[in-house]
Amino acid sequence: MGISTRNPNTITIIPRKQRYFSSPFTILLAFTAFTALFLIKVNNIISETKTLAGHNLDPTPWHLFPANPVNDDSKYSKASKIIQCSYLSCPRGPTRSGNINIDDVQEPEPDGENCPEFFRWIHRDLEPWGKTRISLASLEEARRFAAFRVVIVGGRLYVDLYYACVQSRGMFTIWGLLQLLRRYPGKIPDVDIMFDCMDRPVVNRTEYWMSGNTGPPPPLFRYCTTKDHFDIPFPDWSFWGWPEVNIGPWDEEFISIKQGSQTISWANRSSLAYWKGNPDVDSPVRTELLRCNDSSLWKAQILRQNWVEEAKGGYEQSKLANQCRHRYKIYAEGYAWSVSLKYILSCGSPVLLISPQYEDFFSRGLVPRENYWPISTIRDLCESIKFAVNWGNKSPSQAETIGKGGQALMEALNMDRVYEYMYHLITEYSKLQDFKPSPPSTAREVCEESLLCFADEKQREFLKRSTVDSSSVIPCTLPPADHDIIDSWIQQRMKIIRDIQKMENMRKS
Ligand SMILES: *[C@@H]1O[C@H](CO)[C@@H](O)[C@H](O)[C@H]1NC(C)=O
Ligand SMILES: *[C@@H]1O[C@H](CO)[C@@H](O)[C@H](O)[C@H]1NC(C)=O
Ligand SMILES: *[C@@H]1O[C@H](CO)[C@@H](O)[C@H](O)[C@H]1NC(C)=O
Repeated sequence: MGISTRNPNTITIIPRKQRYFSSPFTILLAFTAFTALFLIKVNNIISETKTLAGHNLDPTPWHLFPANPVNDDSKYSKASKIIQCSYLSCPRGPTRSGNINIDDVQEPEPDGENCPEFFRWIHRDLEPWGKTRISLASLEEARRFAAFRVVIVGGRLYVDLYYACVQSRGMFTIWGLLQLLRRYPGKIPDVDIMFDCMDRPVVNRTEYWMSGNTGPPPPLFRYCTTKDHFDIPFPDWSFWGWPEVNIGPWDEEFISIKQGSQTISWANRSSLAYWKGNPDVDSPVRTELLRCNDSSLWKAQILRQNWVEEAKGGYEQSKLANQCRHRYKIYAEGYAWSVSLKYILSCGSPVLLISPQYEDFFSRGLVPRENYWPISTIRDLCESIKFAVNWGNKSPSQAETIGKGGQALMEALNMDRVYEYMYHLITEYSKLQDFKPSPPSTAREVCEESLLCFADEKQREFLKRSTVDSSSVIPCTLPPADHDIIDSWIQQRMKIIRDIQKMENMRKS
């Protein structure tokens, strides 16, 4: 007998010849039962399998957002995608087998290039676990705040998904980790990380000690932290791209912004301070900034970014490379840190940085008056902006040097550096684990092939553009831990900021 499936919804059985062991009726019955079981199983897979594209995941309860649009036109295509991509077997390359213990990972030779000084913050961020180390129990505690867990064992990456991440953040963050594995094959130690992909840090230092905790805090990776939080900052997704707002991988964007900045000399730029962004993100400082939108009174131009309109216009208006036409660029935090800092710093115009509360991994490398100009919120925000613009227009060569300093800092922060930061943070973190990482039973292996399988067309194009080659050079050498150096940086920077505030006050009185 043969089975014809011309129409996928009806399965017709055509008996060819009578078999001696069963009647066509028995076969039909068995087959129907089998099909029913199969369909139930498939339905279970479809309704239970969590994916990096957001299938079967709820938004994080601590930060709600509209569900991710998962573009599956029909139930059938959704099902086939989930089954095809989830059960796609990741290739097993020769360099990827066997466990990698931190003891086997060769430390970079001492004559390797030194890492940028701000990498010292890696030690500072991990200090809370220096004595106690990191146990599975504290990871379990961090799970309460995590959107996903990443386990790397033997150079293979496993992800346990708990909640959806807004837009394609989760997908691009995991992609970044896969690229790290590709960049340093055989060098990434076994590691177990809890990660939250939403904006604000949650492990408040004061609250943690006040509530009588004596043990180490839960170790949680995210994109930013503050001096009052234990959250561990890690490079955000936008370094690999942000397709929803048409921002490409960081190295491409930097080159294009720098080229854009070279089409107009600093002196020939508009002598105003400029900001364009979304003021409706529950950020008091952005709301306050709208008040300074007066080019004659406050020397500032504050524009609203309308992403829906920009998308319709092919993002021509929001092209970052076309936004280097002002002598001063304002940076204002959003709901937390903002990914825009690196693009704003790349123009070669002094960045008027409104005193930030949040820090991302590289913003700790900023030095006031060297690569940005600090704007205080203590007195009047608009006054402070106006003061900065007037100062710069009267001291153009100093102002231009600050602008160039910011651009040089971003040029130095190329993707090589970003991967080195990830490498060192993960390596130092893994040294603190007092257990042997192994993926939980609910985790699923993710490789480039399976991740790309879930990506939509635009995401896939962005992801592919940020693929790296394996590095021919060893990672830079991490400077040793030195608590006092970081304290002295903080003191020096506070002094420069205070001196500028004094200048402002003298002018006003
Ligand atoms: C941390 O918690 C303390 C005590 O509840 C609170 O006063 C403080 O504002 C919190 N810090 C941050 C940065 O949220
Ligand atoms: C500024 O623009 C003017 C007119 O477009 C041009 O002649 C001049 O060379 C420019 N100055 C600099 C420093 O680029
Ligand atoms: C700022 O002022 C300009 C010129 O008056 C105006 O076009 C723009 O819409 C204003 N920006 C905002 C955010 O209202």
